Amino acid sequence: LDNGLGTTPPMGWNSWNHFHCDINEQLIRETADALVSTGLAELGYQYVNIDDCWGENYRDSQGNLVAKQSTFPSGINSLADYVHGKGLKLGIYSDAGTQTCSKTMPGSLGFEDQDAQTFASWGVDYLKYDNCNNPGTSPRERYSKMSSALQNSGRDIFFSLCEWGVDDPASWASSIGHSWRTTGDIFDSWDSMTSRADENDKWASYAKPGGWNDPDMLEVGNGGMTTEEYRSHFSIWALAKAPLLIGCDVRSISEDALEILSNSEVIAVNQDSLGVQGKKVVWGGGTEVWAGPLSGGTVAVVLWNRGSSPATITAEWSDIGLSSSTVVNARDLWAHSDTASVQGELTATVDSHACKMYVLTPQHLIALSRFPMADAFGS
Ligand code: GLA
Repeated sequence: LDNGLGTTPPMGWNSWNHFHCDINEQLIRETADALVSTGLAELGYQYVNIDDCWGENYRDSQGNLVAKQSTFPSGINSLADYVHGKGLKLGIYSDAGTQTCSKTMPGSLGFEDQDAQTFASWGVDYLKYDNCNNPGTSPRERYSKMSSALQNSGRDIFFSLCEWGVDDPASWASSIGHSWRTTGDIFDSWDSMTSRADENDKWASYAKPGGWNDPDMLEVGNGGMTTEEYRSHFSIWALAKAPLLIGCDVRSISEDALEILSNSEVIAVNQDSLGVQGKKVVWGGGTEVWAGPLSGGTVAVVLWNRGSSPATITAEWSDIGLSSSTVVNARDLWAHSDTASVQGELTATVDSHACKMYVLTPQHLIALSRFPMADAFGS
């Protein structure tokens, strides 16, 4: 949706993957604190998103949604103030049906304007809008209503469509929201993560600034995958311009998980201003090359070994959009090291379920940036 929001994929945290319905205002405050103290906030993780189960299972006498007394006694507005005070933004959750997926609170179907007004008055900055308990009408219609309601609410609210890929949202949602789920829910396993990556990849050509494909939130740090698998998960999500929404308990995050989520070079690929989704360009026998262009003529590449033993993987220039004579500087984003003068192809040995991620900078671009006048002479 072209209204100035989501010009790069959203970054932040969401309560669902780790906590499910077991949430309360203390957790949200402590998570905001932890995002700041770990340095994640400074790296761009700005949204603190409350998922399902934050409200009472009724509307008040005026038909307004109400925060759950027992778990959010101070109310969402005061939570938003707290989160804003940390320099962060607050996200909330509702559903384009009669009840949310947990069936513990009402959905917004038929109450779109009123609920959008409520969220805006509370100081909410992001809405994740789910698809459970709907009457079988088209998602496009139901999501459009909430989109208009948010745009008329007087507040900038990022609109995240969570319709699990139903009705191929990539083909219609870019005029309605800033991101749309292309898949069912992710689980904290290698199989689930790799399937979500592949399902999302099909829609790559539809992503652009203001509208992103969403293969669901990150599981990094939740314990069901190895460190190498989580590194692959994060690398592919970053390359695919997916929302980077942390899904673990940031208050007790492990060193490994923090190191992965804090890789500023990988984050920079995700947040690159060109906004083109990288995709799978070569595959077979368990090894894959994923790649995509970045601003300024550089190229991001992931060599991904999905097989069960170490493998040598090669990206040919013709597969990743470079002409064969191009000489590049290859920056390894996980080793944080450079290899100068690579030409024609890039080859590496990659462990099982691991990946290597690079940014390739053509050397004539490096020369140009050092001697900008060279351009004037038609080099
Ligand atoms: C659906 C969504 C999840 C989560 C739950 C909450 O399954 O896809 O991301 O929001 O509902 O109940």
